[in-house]
Amino acid sequence: MISNRSFELVSGLFHRVSGIRLTDGKRALVAGRLQKLAMTRGLSDLDRYVELLVSENDPAELVRVVDKLTTNETYFFREPEHFEHLSQRLAARPKGAGVFRVWSAASSSGEEAYSIAMLLADKIGIDGWEIVGTDLSTAVVDTACRGLYPMDRARNMPPVYLKRFCRKGQGEHEGQLLVARELRDRVAFGCANLMEALPDIGLFDQIFLRNVLIYFDPPTKEAIVRRVAAKLKPDGMLYTGHAESLNAPALGLRSLRPAVYALA
Ligand SMILES: C[S@@+](CC[C@H](N)C(=O)[O-])C[C@H]1O[C@@H](n2cnc3c(N)ncnc32)[C@H](O)[C@@H]1O
Repeated sequence: MISNRSFELVSGLFHRVSGIRLTDGKRALVAGRLQKLAMTRGLSDLDRYVELLVSENDPAELVRVVDKLTTNETYFFREPEHFEHLSQRLAARPKGAGVFRVWSAASSSGEEAYSIAMLLADKIGIDGWEIVGTDLSTAVVDTACRGLYPMDRARNMPPVYLKRFCRKGQGEHEGQLLVARELRDRVAFGCANLMEALPDIGLFDQIFLRNVLIYFDPPTKEAIVRRVAAKLKPDGMLYTGHAESLNAPALGLRSLRPAVYALA
């Protein structure tokens, strides 16, 4: 259990860092996840742990808390409409059109970025494109860099891509897949907080900002979309999750189809 005061302290702290508000319904989940961190410090009393968290203000411990409290659910080729759309976009590109740059802006453990890599390797070839994947949580960025996943995350992956771009785990990695090195080497992962000034990562032809906006209140969501859309090339496009709605004109965007936007 977590007391009202500790829950408020933790949700205030988490909101300041991530921009995400933890609703009261998340109380049990927060308690369960923080309990593990408290135990690693030999504390069975969660309120005592929160007290220390606040008083010590240790950035490393704060990172561990953020890692525990973010929702990182993802899988390969999630929301396949976007991959079909991107595939058509690539087919319509003139030859020699330059490097096609894509940003997976809340990449979680990397399945989204590697799905894009598979599509680009298939449609463009192994050169001529770049992918950047960023996330707030250091833990998921580490997983993304490893590129090793439980096989069930590939349930939406076209079987020909599974065969071509993944290696089946053996021995202790039975039941897992490893993304082929030629793709792992082509995707650059790093940490970035969408709430803050973004790192200098250049401009992109395509940005995936999917299944993260749902966690923010409207003003925060608007500020994030503006910040992210500023990284689009003039003819670039932005994908959001299909469950996420945007007031496109107010944000300088135009809606091309559900969850697909271009600069106005
Ligand atoms: C549900 S996952 C979405 C993953 C992927 N885009 C997809 O659609 O499958 C949401 C991700 O957003 C990240 N996130 C939450 N707040 C963030 C912030 N302020 N800055 C960057 N990433 C954030 C979380 O760490 C999490 O990995």
